[in-house]
Amino acid sequence: MSRARVLGVDIGGSGIKGAPVDLDLGEPAEERHKVLTPHPAVPDAVADSVKEVADHFGWSGRPVGVTFPGVVTHGTTRTAANVDKSWIGVDAAALLGERLAAPVTVLNDADAAGIAEMTLGAGRGRTGTVLVLTFGTGIGSALFTEGRLVANTELGHLELHGHEAEKRASSKAREDHDLSWHDWAGRVGTYLAHLEMLFSPELFVIGGGVSRKADRFLPLIKGVDAEIVPAQLLNNAGIVGAAMAAAGAPAAGPAAVSAG
Ligand code: BGC
Repeated sequence: MSRARVLGVDIGGSGIKGAPVDLDLGEPAEERHKVLTPHPAVPDAVADSVKEVADHFGWSGRPVGVTFPGVVTHGTTRTAANVDKSWIGVDAAALLGERLAAPVTVLNDADAAGIAEMTLGAGRGRTGTVLVLTFGTGIGSALFTEGRLVANTELGHLELHGHEAEKRASSKAREDHDLSWHDWAGRVGTYLAHLEMLFSPELFVIGGGVSRKADRFLPLIKGVDAEIVPAQLLNNAGIVGAAMAAAGAPAAGPAAVSAG
């Protein structure tokens, strides 16, 4: 009997990546397919790109999970910090469901990565409060307690010393300001200490592309009591988490689904 598969698609600022995910193994069942994010990344053009990814796998009529880099409630995208503002207020689950002729679940990108990390990666089996953070163009956050997700926490937008945290401590900020690992780790440490003061997590999971270089900066982070570990699923966390959410993962909570 063939294993249960759901297509997971990760919408990012530079690429839209997807793969059918084997839900029993919790990993992509085929090599992922990537298309460049259209510019401007307006809903209609992005929906076409998501369809291109689905078509690559001959996917139609079967469930799809899609991540979005902003707040998503009941399938509607509510914010667009690093994407085209025309996404605000769009029923993305309906738009994509119609375009793909498939039931589509849409959720925040960090929440998707968090679900994957909590189920299969660095947060597996942890029941206390866990914060999964993704460092990329922005900072994404996924807050778990007793293994349950509190969706759309948006902790990258906390204000820190008069600045938005993601403007100071994202991976993009490190590149834009040409910061040394030491200086950037100082900023990340200040941010984590602030989060620790607010949430008392027992564990921080550090994700996003930069987690591949965790050995360069994690040892430099000071002033935080909680355990800090790199994410384990790296590039695939969003895709796998999106597929898990679409399949009704317990950590994902109620998701908005729209059938095309
Ligand atoms: C967005 C979040 C997103 C994060 C990572 C932030 O700017 O507001 O929703 O999770 O970037 O993409």
